[in-house]
Amino acid sequence: MKFVPNEGILGIAPYVGGESSAEGASRIIKLSSNENPFGASPKALTALAADQHLEKYPDGNCTALRAAIAKKFGLEEGRIVCGAGSDEIIGLLCKSYISPKDEVVYATHSFLMYGIYARTCGGVPVEVQENNLTPDLDAMLAAVTPKTKMVFLTNPNNPTGSFNSLSDIKSFRQKLRADILLVLDDAYAEYAQSSDGYENGFVFAKGRDDVVVLRTFSKIYGLAGLRLGYGYCPPDVADVLNRVRSPFNVTSVAQVAGLAALEDDDFIKRSVTHNDEWRTWTQNQLSAMGLKVWQSAGNFLLVTFPSQQQADSCRQFLKSRGIILRQMGAYKLPESLRISIGTGDDMKAACASMREFLTF
Ligand SMILES: Cc1ncc(COP(=O)(O)O)c(C=O)c1O
Repeated sequence: MKFVPNEGILGIAPYVGGESSAEGASRIIKLSSNENPFGASPKALTALAADQHLEKYPDGNCTALRAAIAKKFGLEEGRIVCGAGSDEIIGLLCKSYISPKDEVVYATHSFLMYGIYARTCGGVPVEVQENNLTPDLDAMLAAVTPKTKMVFLTNPNNPTGSFNSLSDIKSFRQKLRADILLVLDDAYAEYAQSSDGYENGFVFAKGRDDVVVLRTFSKIYGLAGLRLGYGYCPPDVADVLNRVRSPFNVTSVAQVAGLAALEDDDFIKRSVTHNDEWRTWTQNQLSAMGLKVWQSAGNFLLVTFPSQQQADSCRQFLKSRGIILRQMGAYKLPESLRISIGTGDDMKAACASMREFLTF
């Protein structure tokens, strides 16, 4: 190789997003990326249609957006750092705090980007097996070594849908060395609010200086295409990320849309109600087909088949009909598929095709 990249980079398996096309299918039902089936927040769409000044650089500090987020959730504005998706904040955290050989701990079956960003900095991903597909906080503590620098906890977890209680997270943080940064990834928090026993990371992070909470506009707000997310950080971490990020990392249109989407309480409420209803419906349907369906607090369900071969054949069968589910091999769950909660018609079509496949 003529140009040798930094150590660790060639060990990265490129992230493969949810598929969005299927050859020969006239209609696609995409249930592979946990997107909002209602589309984008209508308030965001209205705001985007208004006159935009694309010739101007965006506000590099996302001033209005951070103020609105702070007001909505009762947070300190100065501790909010916005990014091009929460993805960017994960990257900035690793870039800022992970040196070669530093260890980054997270649950084995959780979001792939933690390991990818850790590796880009020469860090060592330390994956810890879940307990019944729920992040095992005791095992994560046991995996900590003098080299551990950061721990990611996805709550609720993608792709398993499970979550850890705030009291367990509190005691986990207490036992974790003070110089290890705990990052709570709350990408699906809005959907989880209706799950018994779930509390979001803001409740925990307020008044603390040892935890980062990540949020995204890609899921319930329906703005994945615009790339917008943020981290609620300890003040010194916010200061560091603001030094490292690029000066205009969030586009002006993303800021405008995010600001409007934050106000769209009706849309959020409608999305949660729909998700609760169709997640339960889908879970009941798939369980009745004899499949193992894991309890989920997110806008998706993890479905486990008797074998990898059956999971894959089922995925291909649905794909031939334009219904796209997410393959779980990269998440080390090759015998499972993840199905996002789409519209009622989407879920009926997906379940009907699954039933047809299973009765073949
Ligand atoms: C757990 C989790 N964290 C973060 C992200 C990244 O979201 P964003 O679109 O804000 O980068 C995702 C996206 O699927 C996710 O599932």
